[in-house]
Amino acid sequence: MKTDSLPTNADPASPPARAVARFRAAYHAEPSVLARAPGRVNLLGEHVDYNAGWVLPVAIDRAAYVAASPCPSHLASLSALDLGESASFRLTELDAGLDVTGKPLPAWARYPGGVAWALMQRGLAAGGLDAVLTSDVPVGAGLSSSAAVEVAFATAWQALGDWTLSPMDVARACQQAENQYVGVACGLMDQFASACGQAGHALLLDCRTFEWEPVPLPAGAAIVVADTGVRRQLGKSEYNARRAQCDAAVAELAQVLPGIQALRDVSVEDFNRYAGRLPPLVAQRARHVVEECARVPAAVGWLRQGRLADFGAEMFACHRSLRDLYEVSSPELDALVDAARQLPGCYGARLTGAGFGGCTVNLVRSDRVDDFAREVIVPYRERTGLPAVIYVTAPQDGLRTWRL
Ligand code: GLA
Repeated sequence: MKTDSLPTNADPASPPARAVARFRAAYHAEPSVLARAPGRVNLLGEHVDYNAGWVLPVAIDRAAYVAASPCPSHLASLSALDLGESASFRLTELDAGLDVTGKPLPAWARYPGGVAWALMQRGLAAGGLDAVLTSDVPVGAGLSSSAAVEVAFATAWQALGDWTLSPMDVARACQQAENQYVGVACGLMDQFASACGQAGHALLLDCRTFEWEPVPLPAGAAIVVADTGVRRQLGKSEYNARRAQCDAAVAELAQVLPGIQALRDVSVEDFNRYAGRLPPLVAQRARHVVEECARVPAAVGWLRQGRLADFGAEMFACHRSLRDLYEVSSPELDALVDAARQLPGCYGARLTGAGFGGCTVNLVRSDRVDDFAREVIVPYRERTGLPAVIYVTAPQDGLRTWRL
């Protein structure tokens, strides 16, 4: 775990400075620790993490921050600065999912509650604490705002506790929190990227073995995030439905391909041979996954060789597949990708994250970034009537702690 003292020159309006200032104001004391965990964009490998495939996310420069101090009881008293809300729950009574007054935990507090629960499932102490949370990862935008909150709280509990987990194990505990406590059947990608991010690198994760390696982002390429301004719709139910369709495809294909455990185990050739056994909609969903699983290792080869146009072509192919086969795009996401495709210096563009709204990720020639950012907004507004928000980001380190 990276830990050092808080930069004293932090801009008072910055999220870490605001979290610390709010903590001081609320508790009339210094917080003991400040934890930071970033959001992510995914360059390639979408909706394959829960199919044991390969993903290629990047931790970004937007993050969740938790300023915290231990408190001697079993009480977690949390304040969500951006929402103007507070919640308190007993760490000894997490199974019930209730706050101290007996009401169901508010949705945002289920993330830290779930993290404490998952840590305790591992026999790790998640002790009482006072904490202030703030984040500049936009919510519902496909940039993993919830994973950032989970990893930031896990990091804060770790800093206050007498135990250490590897960043990968932090990620796995946070995934368990989201799967079993929050109730979203997500894969590992988001929590992994938030915990294990590396400056200057994309992260190639094998979601079966959990082995991963950093892949340097070639010089001359910039990552530009374009936000449709439309927040995710129907995310949880549609996400879980896609996952169930993948499981149904595996169960059926295992009749003719014995030994397969996940769609990652099915080659494109075998899939073409046996897809007719599947109900049409299940076949369509599974085709996206099988082809995406083949796309990632090939595309990573292009990236390593600096062949950005070839890598970008795979990003466009991924978007088409998410739009037409997996059906998780939206008219606004399609409009942003179509606009990006027309612009000089754009190697590739596609929706990032679960879809159903949110952001696109664009790989853009560094010297064209400003023009790209300015110009993509125009056709997007003409087609949708909406303003797009553009961020340029660079790959960042993952979880981090400051002792105060
Ligand atoms: C969400 C989930 C991830 C992953 C993506 C789609 O972000 O949390 O686990 O499945 O969707 O690739």
